[in-house]
Amino acid sequence: MSAFMRSAITGVGSYLPETIVSNADLARIVDTSDEWIVERTGIRQRHRARDDQPTSDLAVEAALAALKDAGRDVGDVDLIIVATTTPDLTFPATAAIVQKKLGVPVCAAFDVQAVCSGFVYALSVADGFVARGQARCALVIGAEEMTRLMDWSDRTTCVLFGDGAGAVVLEPVEGRNTPADTGILGFALRSDGRKSDLLYVDGGVATDGRVGHLRMQGNQVFRHAVINIAEAIEAAAAAAGITIAEVDWFVPHQANQRIIKGVGERLGLDENKVISTVSHHANTSAASIPLALDTAIRDGRIRRGDLVLFEAMGGGLTWGACAVRL
Ligand code: UT7
Repeated sequence: MSAFMRSAITGVGSYLPETIVSNADLARIVDTSDEWIVERTGIRQRHRARDDQPTSDLAVEAALAALKDAGRDVGDVDLIIVATTTPDLTFPATAAIVQKKLGVPVCAAFDVQAVCSGFVYALSVADGFVARGQARCALVIGAEEMTRLMDWSDRTTCVLFGDGAGAVVLEPVEGRNTPADTGILGFALRSDGRKSDLLYVDGGVATDGRVGHLRMQGNQVFRHAVINIAEAIEAAAAAAGITIAEVDWFVPHQANQRIIKGVGERLGLDENKVISTVSHHANTSAASIPLALDTAIRDGRIRRGDLVLFEAMGGGLTWGACAVRL
C-alpha cells in the first residue's frame, strides 16, 4: 500500500517595502483622521512599494526568505504559484517573472487570482500538486501592491490598503491520514459572484483597457465577512477532522480589526489565539495571511507542531479557510 502524503509548510518568509505611510500622512491628502482610521479599522500604518519596485520584486524577497527558512535552494523549486491581484504585467504571470528573477530552471509556474482570498486558494492548488507527488518543493507566494489600485481622492478606500508579500515552501511529508498529521489537513473555499459589485476594480484588459481603481461598498463587505467566514472556518475544521477548540492559532486575513474581532466573537475564539498585524500592515490582500504567519513565527508565538487555521475574504466575493499543522 502506498503511503498517505500530505503537504507540509517547511519554510515561511515575508517582505515589506521600506516606505511607511502613516494615517497622518493620509490625512494630508484626504478628509480623514488618525482617530477615525484607528477606531474603524485598527490600521495605524501601511507600507508602500517604490515606483520602480514591481510586485514580483516583493515576491522574490519573500520567496528567498521562505526558501532559506526551509533550508532549500532555488534549484530545488519545482512549482511556483503567486496569488496576486496586482500582477507586474497583464502577462506573463507574475510567477514566471519571479521564476526568472530567482533563477529557477524549468518548472510549473502560474498565478492564482482570488483577491484577498488568493493565498488560501493558492495553497489549496499547491496542496493538490504536492500531496499527489507532482511537486516536491513548491513556493506559494502572496504578493500585492494594492496601493497601485487606489483612488487617492476616495477616503473610503485609500486608507485601508498596503503593499507586501509573504511566502511559504510546501514539501511532501508522509502522514497517517489522521488529524494528528503534520501538514495541510483541510480546506473550505467559497465564491459568490452575485456579489462581485460590492468590491471590484473599475478597469480591465477586456473592458476599458485601463488598470482602474478599487471600488468597495465597505459596510456590505464588512457584514458579509463577519456573517460568512465563520461557516467556512467550521467547514475547514470539519474537513480536517478537528474542532475549533483544538486550534492553537487563528491567522485571519488582515482587513479590519473589527472584522477579526467580529468573526472571533461569532466562533467564541480566545482573542489571545488570534494573530493580528492589521495595525502595521493594513490590508495587503493575498499577502496578508503569510505576512501575519511569518510575523507570529518570528516573534515566537507560532511554533512547529501548532495547529493553525487561516481564513480570508475578498473580492469575488471569495472567502475560505484552511487548517494546517505546522
Ligand atoms: O479584504 C476584504 C475587503 N475589505 C474589507 O474587508 C473591508 C470591509 N469594510 C470595512 O472595513 C469597513 O466597512 C470600512 C472601514 C470600509 C468602513 O467602516 P464603516 O464602519 O462600515 O463605515 P461606513 O462605511 O458606514 O461609513 C461611516 C462614515 C461615513 O460618513 P457618513 O455617511 O456617516 O457621514 C463615511 O463617509 O464614515 C465616513 N468615512 C470616513 N471618515 C473619515 C468613510 N471613510 C472615512 C475615512 N475617514 N477614511
